[in-house]
Amino acid sequence: MLRLAPDGAGIETAARCFGEGKLVAFPTETVYGLGADATNAKAVARLYEAKGRPAFNPLIAHVADLASARRAGEFTPLATMLAAKFWPGPLTLVVPATALVCELARAGLPTVALRVPAHAVAQKLLALFGKPVAAPSANRSGHVSPTHAEHVIADLADEIDAVLDGGPTPLGLESTIIDCTGESPLLLRLGGVPREDIERALDMKIIDAPNWDARAPQSPGRLASHYATRARIRLNASDARPGEAVLNFGAQKLAGIAQARAVLDLSPNANLVEAAANFFSHLRALDASGAAVIAVAPIPREGLGEAINDRLARGAAPR
Ligand code: TXA
Ligand code: MG
Repeated sequence: MLRLAPDGAGIETAARCFGEGKLVAFPTETVYGLGADATNAKAVARLYEAKGRPAFNPLIAHVADLASARRAGEFTPLATMLAAKFWPGPLTLVVPATALVCELARAGLPTVALRVPAHAVAQKLLALFGKPVAAPSANRSGHVSPTHAEHVIADLADEIDAVLDGGPTPLGLESTIIDCTGESPLLLRLGGVPREDIERALDMKIIDAPNWDARAPQSPGRLASHYATRARIRLNASDARPGEAVLNFGAQKLAGIAQARAVLDLSPNANLVEAAANFFSHLRALDASGAAVIAVAPIPREGLGEAINDRLARGAAPR
């Protein structure tokens, strides 16, 4: 792991790392983020693996300015107003997504969470890289968010390629998250921008998101329906039945697979990072094949396989 100084050379190295699909922790005004190129599903898969997340939670995509944010999401008047007032700063806006941020970073959602951080080092890094950077807090899943480079190193030194050391983060509290996809703003997480400041800026009350827990987005509710495929999902299949589509893993020789309506392999070489990177696009493509059932070959439950199985089990649950 490289420890980079927050100067021109360090920032250039960090941006080059993103371009190579590597993982770099960087300071923001809230906490350190663990960054990866948000448009590169393979890099984002490595990011989930490094964090040790048991599920694919949607990630915040960080950009340098509103013009860059507009390439990743559709800005409603509400979102535009909040961005104008609070960016750069500790406010994350959830808006309808374009195709720029990969589906894995969005955990398959049709929306994207966007933020323009106010930290000078983050600003320069994002402007230089020029593409959105997916970055959850740079701690192992379940640990507290890191406010010093030392915290990042203690948690993730063996998992990441570099840390850009910008000293302690000024706020130490994560960003406030507002869902701007509807008519009125919904508060998904309280953080660096107080509720009252947002209400004053908009001259309206903001509602706590009903049936939605931003800290546990995998819980039943609104998110679950977004996650669902139209086709029914049949897990741990040892065969492919007539008319079914098959989501394979590791080139398994399932009985009847040659007659399947459609077959996609998450990773013919049985690589779980590659499988995670392909997961949402393969599932979507098989769903579009029109098959009533997607038979899924067994996928190992280790590493990212746990998150893949978790997501599939949700999709397979009765609804
Ligand atoms: O201050 C912060 O926000 C820090 C720094 C690094 O920017 N980042 C951060 O990321 O706290 P993370 O991954 O720990 O939290 C991201 C939150 C999660 O609660 C997630 O559910 C929510 O953002 N989120 C991301 N995309 C979403 C979406 N499309 N819809 C709703 N919630 C979303
Ligand atoms: Mg976090």
